[in-house]
Amino acid sequence: MRILSIETSCDESAISLLEATGDFGPDFRYTILANALSSSAEMHIQYGGVFPNVAKREHAKALTPLLKQVLKDAGAASPRPLAPIPNLTTLLAREPELLEQLVPFLETHEKPNVDAIAVTAGPGLEPALWVGINFAKALALVWNLPIVATNHMEGHIIGSMVDGEKLRAFDFPILALLISGGHTELVLSRTFGEYTIVGQTRDDAVGEAFDKVARLLGLPYPGGPEISRLASRARQQILEATPPGFVLPRPMMKESGFDFSFSGLKTAVRRIVEAHQPLSDEQKMLLAREFEDAAADVLVGKTMRAAEEYGASTIVVGGGVSANTHIKHQLAASLANNNLATLLTPPLALATDNALMIALAGYFHAAKSEYADPTTLVARGNLRIDM
Ligand code: KG4
Ligand code: ZN
Repeated sequence: MRILSIETSCDESAISLLEATGDFGPDFRYTILANALSSSAEMHIQYGGVFPNVAKREHAKALTPLLKQVLKDAGAASPRPLAPIPNLTTLLAREPELLEQLVPFLETHEKPNVDAIAVTAGPGLEPALWVGINFAKALALVWNLPIVATNHMEGHIIGSMVDGEKLRAFDFPILALLISGGHTELVLSRTFGEYTIVGQTRDDAVGEAFDKVARLLGLPYPGGPEISRLASRARQQILEATPPGFVLPRPMMKESGFDFSFSGLKTAVRRIVEAHQPLSDEQKMLLAREFEDAAADVLVGKTMRAAEEYGASTIVVGGGVSANTHIKHQLAASLANNNLATLLTPPLALATDNALMIALAGYFHAAKSEYADPTTLVARGNLRIDM
């Protein structure tokens, strides 16, 4: 089965074309026919976070060029003489930049060899999600294809489980630690497609905390990689000890549940920054290290306890923050100590948002003919994985 996937939940516009066979298990195989991405992250630097309407406009501009590139890379863009297509003016009324580029392309190209379209329906920024959804509806209408409404978080889980064009060895129950700029969740899955959120953040997502702390230290957005770079330099170069006044809390670490809280940690960093103005480069490095240690301690501590509580066989880490080397190392070290479960973490390209993970998740639903009704398909910014 061939799946064309579309991801626009945040600031990455991405499209991929996947060919796949088999069930969610050892017989699953896939080939990436094409995979393309364009990011508007740079345009959000001035806002210190993703600005929804800028993201929306950039998606609308990016999707047609990405589609052209994907079909070309897959050898699936066959030109044809100009022929009329169904009218898309109403459907794409809110995405004029998309309408303008998409219509001439569809009028002059054959329907590609594709069986279904998978599009991220949520969670994410609603104005951004809508662009991908309306684009998917337009393609589905013109090419007469079914749509899978894909959950972005399920995409992160499955995207973290593949390697070498198959799923890596795993057993249920799976405990997924989903850590990104918008989410911090512990999700339990006992069988494919069934999810329970066992813990989540009560305020900021951990990636958001990385981004805000980076801003406090005068570092650019996205802040996660910047903090991580400073922290690892501090670990390599400097003194073992954290200086007095630079010790941060480990929020909710000792509480019995699996929920998280990161806004207090960010506030604690702000207080330190304000008390030590101006911070030297060395102080910034030490503070970055202490922050990364605090975030890792909480994430690893809670994940280990949840894994034990639910008897997890596999721990999957997904989302942009799973690119963090320190967090991955700490988790691997803890798991190695008590032989609890297999750890699956994604390569960088699959950790941050991408369309391949949406194609993978979409495929498993398409294989079960779990399609959306285009007339009722809407963007759901708060879509939970357990709904
Ligand atoms: O999953 P993602 O690409 O987008 C969503 O939020 O859905 O995640 C982006 C987040 C940002 O907050 C970014 O700062 C964080 O992932 N991030 C990192 C690292 N790389 C990206 N956080 C910590 N360490 C990293 N190396
Ligand atoms: Zn994401």
